[in-house]
Amino acid sequence: MIKLIQGDCFEKIKDIPNESVDLIFTSPPYADRRKKCYEGKSADEYVDWFRPLGIEIKRILKPTGSFFLNIKPHTNKGERNLYVFDLVCDLKRNVGFMFVDEFSWEKNAFPGKLKGRFKNAFEPVYHFTTGNPNQINFNPLACGTPMKEESIARTYRKQCGAPKSGSGMTGMNTTNIRNLKLARPSNVIKVNNVSNQFSDKQLHPATFPEGLVEFFIKSFTNENDTVLDPFMGSGTTGIVAKKLNRNFIGIELEEQYFEIAKKRIEAPGNGRVSLRYELG
Ligand SMILES: C[S@@+](CC[C@H](N)C(=O)[O-])C[C@H]1O[C@@H](n2cnc3c(N)ncnc32)[C@H](O)[C@@H]1O
Repeated sequence: MIKLIQGDCFEKIKDIPNESVDLIFTSPPYADRRKKCYEGKSADEYVDWFRPLGIEIKRILKPTGSFFLNIKPHTNKGERNLYVFDLVCDLKRNVGFMFVDEFSWEKNAFPGKLKGRFKNAFEPVYHFTTGNPNQINFNPLACGTPMKEESIARTYRKQCGAPKSGSGMTGMNTTNIRNLKLARPSNVIKVNNVSNQFSDKQLHPATFPEGLVEFFIKSFTNENDTVLDPFMGSGTTGIVAKKLNRNFIGIELEEQYFEIAKKRIEAPGNGRVSLRYELG
């Protein structure tokens, strides 16, 4: 089932039943950015603006589900704004999410000579859940990489002193590790942006790459689970969800982007499930 909804996600999300969604992957409008393209909020009002949506996301997410938020604060007069840190703390302290982890999405840097700082080549993706973080849906090898020779060699080294935290090789079954074909990926994901705001202006100014979404959907859901993107934009999350045989709910405010998302998700080769539309 694919359900595409045109309208305001703060309202439309209220129609989604409690604890019915397995994964939310979204990139909301960043504060003080792209004002000519779509509605957004200033950094000062951002946390209060987002909170009602956070409360709804918490209501509809299954206890085994995951909420991933991709957002990076801008710089102004040489200083990086801190509203995203406030947002993450608010989602934990006032909305009541468990904060599982922070991922780093490494991408191609936008060229430029900035004063006092280097090119920006990563964006964070914050991971929240509502239940016990140790019991969320998790497929650690779904995006596994082939074991490196040197990693296998490490398992033969003499072990010295186990750390109290139980981390590291000590305490692990090294024979099992040697027999593994795949290694778990890290929380640093390298996917270059295939489009950008200049080359693909006619599409959408802020599309994220399919490979980024694929990593999270494969690692934290199973087939026939339900994925939501409340700020759907051009529909990238929907395209990947459909290809991977997940159900998808997408909400987009702007008609022009909604139409683009609908076309992209519908396009032949983007999966096999039937589409149902609801126009807001
Ligand atoms: C950063 S873009 C998302 C881009 C998307 N990840 C993609 O790959 O195309 C944010 C989107 O949220 C939409 N938006 C802004 N406010 C919204 C609202 N209240 N409800 C639903 N969509 C909204 C904007 O029109 C914009 O398309």
